[in-house]
Amino acid sequence: MKVLVCDKTEKECLEQMRAAGLTVDANFEITPEQLMTMLPAYDAVVVRSRTKIRQPLIDVCPNLKLIVRGGVGLDTIDVEYARSKGIVVKNTPRASSASVAELAIGYMFVLARSLYKATAGMKAEKWDKKSFEGEEIGGKTLGIIGLGNIGMETARRALQLGMNVIAFDPTSKGMFGVPFVSLDELLTSADYITLHLPKTEETANMIDAEQFAKMKPGVRIINCARGGIINEDALYDALVSDKVAGAALDVFAEEPPTDWKLLQLDNVIASPHIGAATKEAQSRVGAEVAEIVIDFARIAGQAEAAALDN
Ligand SMILES: NC(=O)c1ccc[n+]([C@@H]2O[C@H](COP(=O)([O-])OP(=O)(O)OC[C@H]3O[C@@H](n4cnc5c(N)ncnc54)[C@H](O)[C@@H]3O)[C@@H](O)[C@H]2O)c1
Repeated sequence: MKVLVCDKTEKECLEQMRAAGLTVDANFEITPEQLMTMLPAYDAVVVRSRTKIRQPLIDVCPNLKLIVRGGVGLDTIDVEYARSKGIVVKNTPRASSASVAELAIGYMFVLARSLYKATAGMKAEKWDKKSFEGEEIGGKTLGIIGLGNIGMETARRALQLGMNVIAFDPTSKGMFGVPFVSLDELLTSADYITLHLPKTEETANMIDAEQFAKMKPGVRIINCARGGIINEDALYDALVSDKVAGAALDVFAEEPPTDWKLLQLDNVIASPHIGAATKEAQSRVGAEVAEIVIDFARIAGQAEAAALDN
């Protein structure tokens, strides 16, 4: 089986697949144009968040049998279309959950104590002690929108920190200690709001001016899910008016952003989509990707042998 690995992937993952007898080519910088000409020669493709697999590409790859997304979100792949063509689409749903949850929790601490402003002041050689009365996280209410793998990891950590945790999620099975509430109740009662849901047609711009109006004054918001679930213009207005005291953003409607005005506000802290960028998550993603591809090749090989026998 021939496998094309399109985005940066652990070398151990490539070695494991090769050791299992697969032909593995890696091109971490491949462009969409190059993919259109190269991918038709492969049976399987491995992508992370950079490479998109859309319908026109799928249409020129009649031999493609497997798409593996190392990571969680499948919004970069036309999943239904691929499946309608008989292509198996897999991801690694839990490999990065702990890393993203830790980033969300870390962001809460940074927001609670304005550490970004304190750091900027110290770097400018200012001993501005009076400006930094923060708040404790313990005893505050954290509203989690999307109580799936990452939401639950975040909830577990927040409960350990003594926070009251509530969640809005219409389909999650839920977890002990985290009551479900309506979205309105979450918006009106949370001191911190963190998003851990996928971006879909339904969730795009789900948090806009109307939702900001319902929030507690001084609320702090963390988005380590997907850009565009929060309407960025509405967030900008809410930050400028101090309705929202601070926002921490790992993801953006456009990545990298072309309009940086949100990032220029001094109550916004941000990172370039690094939720899963830890050694541990990357190594778990690599190991899971290798396992998925090797298993698939083994089962496909057995099916082929059985067909020849008949
Ligand atoms: N920042 C990063 O680097 C990074 C890394 C991994 C994942 N993510 C994002 O985090 C998201 C969550 O990941 P996960 O592993 O927890 O996924 P998951 O599928 O385990 O959980 C998502 C949860 O969102 C819920 N949900 C769906 N629509 C909803 C809605 N309209 N309102 C409220 N809840 C809704 C689902 O019921 C589900 O329980 C992913 O979709 C991905 O976009 C970001």
